Amino acid sequence: MTKPSRVTLVEVGPRDGLQNEAQPVGAADKVALVHRLQDAGCREIEVTSFVSPKWVPQMADNAEVMAGIARKPGVRYSVLTPNLKGLEAALLSKPDEVVVFGAATEAFSRRNINCSIEESFARFEPVVAAAHAAGVKVRGAISCAFGCPYQGAVSADEVERVVKLMKAIGVDHCGVADTIGTGTPGAVQRGMERALKHYPLAEVSGHFHDTYGQALANIYACLELGIHVFDASIAGLGGCPYAKGATGNVATEDVVFMLHGLGIETGLDLDKLVDAGAFISGVLGRPPVSRAGKALLAKRGVAVAVA
Ligand code: HMG
Ligand code: MG
Repeated sequence: MTKPSRVTLVEVGPRDGLQNEAQPVGAADKVALVHRLQDAGCREIEVTSFVSPKWVPQMADNAEVMAGIARKPGVRYSVLTPNLKGLEAALLSKPDEVVVFGAATEAFSRRNINCSIEESFARFEPVVAAAHAAGVKVRGAISCAFGCPYQGAVSADEVERVVKLMKAIGVDHCGVADTIGTGTPGAVQRGMERALKHYPLAEVSGHFHDTYGQALANIYACLELGIHVFDASIAGLGGCPYAKGATGNVATEDVVFMLHGLGIETGLDLDKLVDAGAFISGVLGRPPVSRAGKALLAKRGVAVAVA
């Protein structure tokens, strides 16, 4: 399999990144971040989630953020919806795509969405049907596909079980996520191959956290399989409130630096991404986690405080 010549990055910083920040980030700053990301060329942006504000208070301003965005033609704005209540609220804000999020392990499913895997799919089924009835595409995310903070190791069989459940209820796209960043390239290829048994290449994506420094290697391993859609998070923001110790998602700037070095097109402007990363890191009062972001800021002569 030759590596793809073009890759689509789904920017998840505003949602997956900011959901994990202890300090509050105002809706205006979230909107400003989305504007900077779309100006940098992002065509897929995961903006927020319509989850319980008791569970994830950081996303309680979901409708305000969605309403504040000056939408750019050609950009797709997605939101997380764990159940029908979330979907109904989300549809009012007119997302282009919604995301249902399951888990490869029972333990993580319970901690993250308070139900078993089977129960979660019983909840997702009407969400998928209602989203489709409203003309909205549905992406599915499988958390903890390569390791679980509560169970430990996760097998490719466990991943495939959930891929099949996604397929059975009509989820359009299958995102396979290394929530705690313990996956290594061989295991990642084995898990991704299971997703590719049930979904076409264009509808399988990888979502990697960099906790153990494996994220870029794991993306490269996916490129070798021809996979060409990945989630990434500006400035390396993020984590998951129900996966303690997991560091941020792989930084968008780092992924873009690698892909452009490989001659793979992304449609993204790295300099503008670095600006967006510096902006949100400034809001949070810390330097970007992105190695490429920090290096490029240093090259410009911008002082980057050491964390
Ligand atoms: P529950 O407590 O079992 O829900 O939570 P419930 O149906 O029993 O309802 C309890 C209360 O929540 C009720 O309110 C409902 O109205 C309300 P009350 O009567 O007590 O006032 N409620 C809602 N409110 C707003 N929006 C909703 C909603 N649903 C119920 N959609 C639930 C179940 C799924 C709601 C909860 O567990 C939850 O919100 N979990 C979200 C957790 C989350 O957002 N985690 C992070 C995202 S996943 C992730 O980051 C991983 C991923 O990025 C991949 C990776 O990084 O690797 C995808
Ligand atoms: Mg994540």
